[in-house]
Amino acid sequence: MSIPTPIKWENDNLIILDQQQLPHEIVYITLETIEDVFDAIVTLKVRGAPAIGIAAAYGLALAAKKHDGRLLESFHLRLHEDYLYLAGSRPTAVNLFWALDRLMNKVEAVESVLEAIALLEKEAVAIHEEDEKTCEQIGNYALSLLNDKTRVMTICNAGTIATAKYGTALAPFHIGAEKGKKFEVYACETRPVLQGSRLTVWELQQSDVDVTLITDSMAAHTIQAKGVEAIIVGADRIAENGDTANKIGTLNLAILAKEYGIPFYVAAPTTTFDLTIESGKGIPIEERKAEEITTIAGQSVAPEGTKVFNPAFDVTPSALITAIITEKGIVNQADYINIKSLVGRQAGE
Ligand code: MRU
Repeated sequence: MSIPTPIKWENDNLIILDQQQLPHEIVYITLETIEDVFDAIVTLKVRGAPAIGIAAAYGLALAAKKHDGRLLESFHLRLHEDYLYLAGSRPTAVNLFWALDRLMNKVEAVESVLEAIALLEKEAVAIHEEDEKTCEQIGNYALSLLNDKTRVMTICNAGTIATAKYGTALAPFHIGAEKGKKFEVYACETRPVLQGSRLTVWELQQSDVDVTLITDSMAAHTIQAKGVEAIIVGADRIAENGDTANKIGTLNLAILAKEYGIPFYVAAPTTTFDLTIESGKGIPIEERKAEEITTIAGQSVAPEGTKVFNPAFDVTPSALITAIITEKGIVNQADYINIKSLVGRQAGE
């Protein structure tokens, strides 16, 4: 796999691969302030649930350094403001909140500002490093499910650049390629932001995976005409009952999988579970600006003033999900009732 490292922490600098420039250019940008990190998340320069969590963790660590020299009480107040600021960047991917909470918990009982600053950086690095191992484990479990299958469909980009490495839904393709397994992947372009065509196609090409681009509206026909054998997607938030929020268009694919009798898999780390939410009804869905739909590459494609509905995610009911693949193992539909114990976390953790 020769995909550029998506997030780097070098000499106290957060450096990210600018996903808005892909696939045309490989450009790294240095994020120096919490505002830079906030902007990079909102404008999708860094995107994908685990990557958003990693970037936000580094963002909080960066912000803390700027409060050096304050009294401990004032430091905590400022850090809390920074936490709320970063938490307001995007609403759906729970990894953002999970990562920020993990850092905040770490410094609750510190005795000095310097101790807090060091702990925040250490925790952000730990989250980053853990994610790589997590994705590799997800990839291996996913590969075991897809082993006897060749033609697989996916949507959005749940790959290396959406994580520390390998990705979630794309991990079996990268790891499979390293092991000589030949997949034929059908990538939905993922209107309106085109994470499928710009990012997934590019990423899989880097790993020499056979990937074919289709528009989202071609999914049903492609499943029928090409004999797609399974669908695998990532996730932004999974409720306690297994209902899963992921990129808009995912629900369409889940319904198609049922119609055509093929398995529909969700691949996600246990940090994507939100056990404070009973069902998908409680998952906040981000709505993005109208221009994402009314323009293509800067050109207007709709009448001036067109009314637009632009939800960035949808929720797939757990009844349509064959299995959820985590780093701790594969959770089959019959076991969603035990999700709490299976993912090894309790509500709010
Ligand atoms: O809006 P995006 O590009 O951040 O949405 C990303 C997705 O929906 C991914 O499928 C999800 O975050 C999983 S990434 C491993």
